[in-house]
Amino acid sequence: MTELTDSTGPATPAEPVAFPQDRTCPFHPPSGYAPLRDGRALSRVTLFDGREVWLVTAHAAARALLADPRLSSDRRRTDFPVAAPRFRVQREERRVALLGLDDPEHRRQRRMMIPSFTVKRATDMRPRIQRTVDGLLDAMIEQGPPAELVSAFALPVPSMVICGLLGVPYADHEFFEAQSRALLRGPTADDTLDARRRLEAYLEGLIDDKAKQTEPGDGILDDLVHHRLRDGTLERTDVVSLALILLIAGHETTANMISLGTFTLLHHPDRLAELRADPALLPAAVEELLRMLSIADGLQRIASEDIEIDGTTIRAGDGVLFSTSVINRDTSVFDDPDTLDFHRSARHHVAFGFGIHQCLGQNLARTELEIALGSLLTRLPGLRLAAPAHEIPFKPGDTVQGMLELPVTW
Ligand code: HEM
Repeated sequence: MTELTDSTGPATPAEPVAFPQDRTCPFHPPSGYAPLRDGRALSRVTLFDGREVWLVTAHAAARALLADPRLSSDRRRTDFPVAAPRFRVQREERRVALLGLDDPEHRRQRRMMIPSFTVKRATDMRPRIQRTVDGLLDAMIEQGPPAELVSAFALPVPSMVICGLLGVPYADHEFFEAQSRALLRGPTADDTLDARRRLEAYLEGLIDDKAKQTEPGDGILDDLVHHRLRDGTLERTDVVSLALILLIAGHETTANMISLGTFTLLHHPDRLAELRADPALLPAAVEELLRMLSIADGLQRIASEDIEIDGTTIRAGDGVLFSTSVINRDTSVFDDPDTLDFHRSARHHVAFGFGIHQCLGQNLARTELEIALGSLLTRLPGLRLAAPAHEIPFKPGDTVQGMLELPVTW
């Protein structure tokens, strides 16, 4: 059962606050983070294993630190902070790409990927995304209400889109969606590791099949296999790791934004009516929902050198985490930040991170969200929840935020 409450609360903590915590309301930071919202840039927080790390909660400090090369994102380090026991997999076995690497290796990989993720590429993909969205809405309408929106719409939209972009067969979606779920939310470290191995084995098979094709397809994976692998710019393990991060990041996050974004709109009828009356507000609404929902809440880094910031010294080896949900409600940047307001300038939120690791897929994600949310509201004008809001389950705090289910009717 979920409680839909506000996030404001009491003052400065005597003890370090536990991080991460479950949200009490799916669109507000956990009420347990209230002591962290007192204007300080950094606080000490405690992870599940008792380790104390820094949590960055102010917008200016977050942008300065996320752009600071003295903070490392190297997830192969055994002392890299993790948010839950299941993420403590045997690091020496872990092959990482992009987000798990520092420059210059990170830069090398990112440069290879950028042409596939520009604003122009996302714009070019609009007709394809619109067809995907229309097909799923046609099927929902044909079947008639009620529907479970996560499985009928929120998950298949980004899943189909990323499959097309990568060159992964959508026919395998049940397998890779289940493995991604286990990787992100599996109950134990073994489940996480097993899911990762199964996904890697699957992608290795796909890469081998593509390597045998004389006429390569037009997916990113086809390009990596037929060019980068052949000319030796990438190793096979790098291609697998890149495919893995793109496949997971490409469907899980956007699916959560579609489901949680829809839930939030249905919970704010005035904003919903405003959006229906003026569809030109859609891009601003998407930006404001990204800010308000901050679904990737708890970015992780480790200091490789001492860093002075705001009168505080972060020591080499200290874990440094970023609560995007709290940062995106910094009152020095966003007026009345707990209110959903499509007329504010929300674009400088950090829901996609900041600095060298800022979300590679953000242009694609924005396009998908605009088309998915816009079409959902137009095609289903009577859309409403099919269960009381407080009975609808949402995801726990140590993973990407989103709805586990979203029963709707129209
Ligand atoms: C609404 C949807 C999305 C949200 C909220 C989101 C959020 C984020 C955030 C916060 C980061 C930075 C993590 C950090 O600095 O620790 C990130 C990085 C990344 N995202 Fe997204 N993301 C979304 C959609 C996507 C999509 C559709 C893709 C497409 C493939 C994608 C691919 C990536 C990749 C590859 C990185 C790592 C970039 C790097 O290290 O250079 N994301 N994302």
